[in-house]
Amino acid sequence: MYKTFFIETYGCQMNFADSEIVHSILVNVGYVPTMEIRKADFVFINTCSIRDHAEQRVLNRLQEVQSLKKKRPHLIIGILGCMAERLQKQLIEKNKNVDLVVGPDAYRRLPEMLNSLSTQDKAIDTLLSTEETYSDIEPIRLSSNRVSAFIAIMRGCENYCAYCVVPYTRGRERSREARTIIHEAQVLFDQGYREVTLLGQNVNSYRCDTVDFADLLALTAQINPLLRVRFATSHPKDLSDKLLETMAQYPNICRSIHLPIQSGSDTILQKMNRKYTLAWYKDRIAAIRRYLPDCSLSTDIIVGFCDETEQDYKDTLSLMQEVGYASAFMFKYSERPDTYAAKHYADNIPEDVKSQRLAHVIDFQQQSSLLSNQRDIGQTFEVLVEGVSKRSTTQYIGRNSQNKVVIFSHTDEKPGDYIYVRITDCSAVTLFGQRIE
Ligand code: 5AD
Ligand code: SF4
Repeated sequence: MYKTFFIETYGCQMNFADSEIVHSILVNVGYVPTMEIRKADFVFINTCSIRDHAEQRVLNRLQEVQSLKKKRPHLIIGILGCMAERLQKQLIEKNKNVDLVVGPDAYRRLPEMLNSLSTQDKAIDTLLSTEETYSDIEPIRLSSNRVSAFIAIMRGCENYCAYCVVPYTRGRERSREARTIIHEAQVLFDQGYREVTLLGQNVNSYRCDTVDFADLLALTAQINPLLRVRFATSHPKDLSDKLLETMAQYPNICRSIHLPIQSGSDTILQKMNRKYTLAWYKDRIAAIRRYLPDCSLSTDIIVGFCDETEQDYKDTLSLMQEVGYASAFMFKYSERPDTYAAKHYADNIPEDVKSQRLAHVIDFQQQSSLLSNQRDIGQTFEVLVEGVSKRSTTQYIGRNSQNKVVIFSHTDEKPGDYIYVRITDCSAVTLFGQRIE
């Protein structure tokens, strides 16, 4: 009788891409994916450690999953990803029903580890690698549409931002061979996909032999003008003019850059070890505007980092005002064990102050997103159709090059088509429009 598995994924896009690799590894040895957790022989949770809140969510969920063992004692529970790497055997010590703990560079060993459970009770592998990129494994695509897919182009991070756990959970930075990336994008295009997002913690430092990130983008864009190319995430310190020139040369490289600022204060940026100043960041924004006048910008913000004063926080708001981001991910600082900040700084901004600052930046961004969308009213965009909207079957959803969601009335278009839509209305998160011929 064949065995079935179920994977639940938390956290960033990289984790979702990893789950697609794990699917592929397990299917290759004859296991069968199921959508129903209650029917699975193996349940895996692919976990995130970026903030304490993320870990707590997973731990709560783990309690529920462990209770499935009452009815099904042979169920195998595995923890994958960043929490596996960070907590290692503690996960098993504190959760007696967990059988497997597998770090992000050990997924190839999963079949072997599952087999080993017939002779041993538990299995753990959290070895990090300096070489593993899973480049030869063709992921099994799990995204909800057959239009857009992720391609991991590198793994790990060694920027060591003072607050961040990623360098410890995902190890050294390594780039995947360009040839295998281009092959994967070509296969996706041939299968009908029309958009790929090249993923890495810091894609701008991609390098494999003589190919840098700008070269890789150009190579991907050359596959076909109908293939849209996106990327995430960019570190401001590495965003080069060469990259912007390359983007400007290829209309199918999308006009949208996610450029995390984290804080608008030089003092805090320095404490965070971000390795750029506000002046540098603003110069990069000016360069983006020069090369790509229609490019949209989004960012990540952390409020309440160690010693953040009222003035530092106001400086973040001023920066947000000055740039006018189309969207932003905003977080309260969450101290992560063993990071530089945890070891050397006090987490000294009171929780209520962090919450107030967060509420305020979210409010501020909401207005900024609305303004950005209002500026699009009356304009016409090329939209890549993704499928039916969640709210109504007569409404379809797509995205413009700027990565904004566009909703329009469905006529005869299919997912994967390019259409032109004139924007007639908006909310802070969505553009509404009408198809024009
Ligand atoms: N606390 C809060 N936010 C964090 N991020 C990373 N580490 C932390 C932390 N310890 C945020 C950063 C990063 C995004 C992925 O998560 O803004 O860009
Ligand atoms: Fe974390 Fe900084 Fe690396 Fe991003 S660049 S993953 S914030 S250490």
